[in-house]
Formats: sequence, structure tokens, C-alpha cells
Amino acid sequence: MRTLSTLAELASFRTRAPSAVVLVPTMGALHTGHAALMDAARSRAGGGGTVIVSIFVNPTQFAPHEDLDKYPRPFEADLARCHEHGADAVFAPSVPEMYPPGDSTFVEETTLSRGLCGARRPSHFRGVCTVVAKLFHLTRPDAAIFGEKDFQQLAVIGRMARDLFPGLEIIGCPTVREPDGLALSSRNRYLAPEERRRAAAFPAALRTAAENSSPREVIATATALITQGTGSVPEYVEVVDAETLEPLQTLDRPAVLAAAVKIGETRLIDNVHLAARHAKI
Ligand code: PAF
Repeated sequence: MRTLSTLAELASFRTRAPSAVVLVPTMGALHTGHAALMDAARSRAGGGGTVIVSIFVNPTQFAPHEDLDKYPRPFEADLARCHEHGADAVFAPSVPEMYPPGDSTFVEETTLSRGLCGARRPSHFRGVCTVVAKLFHLTRPDAAIFGEKDFQQLAVIGRMARDLFPGLEIIGCPTVREPDGLALSSRNRYLAPEERRRAAAFPAALRTAAENSSPREVIATATALITQGTGSVPEYVEVVDAETLEPLQTLDRPAVLAAAVKIGETRLIDNVHLAARHAKI
């Protein structure tokens, strides 16, 4: 496995990389969910193809008050995990390598990124799209893999790829969960033991609420159960069209129940897919 830290090293690796090339973009602090992404990348690339994992804590997707400085960076453990899961190269650039001093160019998706997390973190998806577009441009992958826990991110990147990188396949991988249902996230390690116990009520609330038959009931049930079980009022609870991400009044098409809640200082997001319950008229 090669470790690459400059654009020049990546370019030279890429010219010799056998197809299919599959990219797994990450911010490091890798867990079993990332391992599943790397395994999916390996099987998409095939034995003869190339898996590139990027590890870069991207400053442009954090607001000034967010956790950029304290975001975990266990680099050696991350490299070991990449090696164990069949990566051919890890690209781990510095900030000036990705954002040369004085840069002033961003990539912005303007529709799917507006609501849900985008409404509460206004520059977040602009930062995500910018760094992911740079990574796509540099690695020229045949496919790139993202987790479904970040449901809105997956939709936004899918749209950006369709608009700017035709032919690039975006693959979503199912959320990996702890035995009590909590979705794996690098930020779970911020939770104190007592907060971690309360956090299990979040996915349980979404699962129970998903049994209701209208978006209004789903949202009311999820909001009440999250508040009761975690001790925190959710930042948002919404039922949206699975493709357009527009809020829905009736469950007449594939939908997603998406929510965010802060437990102590730790912001968690999760989602559940809802099948259509009523025929479209
Ligand atoms: O999901 C993440 O870890 C990040 O948002 C990503 C896609 C690697 C971009 O920095």
C-alpha cells in the first residue's frame, strides 16, 4: 500500500493505476463503517483494479464554531485499517496542498443541499462538494463510495457527479450500526458513557416512528421519542422525498425520515427509508 501526500505523488500513482479505480473519500478516524466502504470498493475494483482511500479533515465543511480542531486524527491506526481492508493507496494531503493559499474557487450544489443539515450548516455542503470535486478531479475514479448514514451528502454528491463528472458511478453503502442500533460515526467517540447510553434512543425512536402512516404522525412520534429518550430536543425531524429531498405531506412515494440531535456537544444524524404506503393518484 502506498501513502501519498502531494498532488504530484497522486498524479504519478494515478497514471500507472490499473482500472477500475475506486475512490473512498474519508476524513479519517476510520471505524467499521469505513471498513465496509473499503470492502465494497475492493469488490467493485476487482482483484486487478485500484482502491484509493483519501484521508483529509476538510476545513471548508466545518463552520468556525464546529469541531475542526478537535476532530480525531489517529493517522497510524487509520493506515493500518486501510491496509487491512485492501487499499492500494492512501492519499493524505495537507491543507495547503488541497487549498493553495489565496484560493477563491468553490463548488456548490444549489438544490438538494438547501434543506435538512444544509439549512442548519449553511456552508457545509459547499465545502463537501468542493473537496470531493477536487478528489474526483485528481483521482479520476470509475466509481466512488459513500455511506448512507450521510443520506443528504450522498444525494448532493450524486447530483454533483451527474452534473460535473458524467460516467462516474456513485455507490451508497448501507449504514453500519452498533448492536444497540446507533449508527457508526467518527464523532461517536466524543460521547461520554452516559451520553452514549442515551444516544441509543435516537435510532430506536426513528425505527418506531417509521411505523406511522403519515409524515405528520411520523414526525410527531419521532420528535417525542427522541426528546424523551435522549433528553435533547432534536435539531430537526423531517420526512422528505427520497429523490428530491422535498418535504412530503403524504407517503405516496419512497421517502426518508431524517433527523439530527445534539447529545451534549455531539451532533448525531440518522435516517430511515420509508416505503410508499398509498398509491399515487
Ligand atoms: O463523509 C465524510 O467523511 C466527508 O464529508 C467527505 C465525504 C470525506 C468529504 O470531506
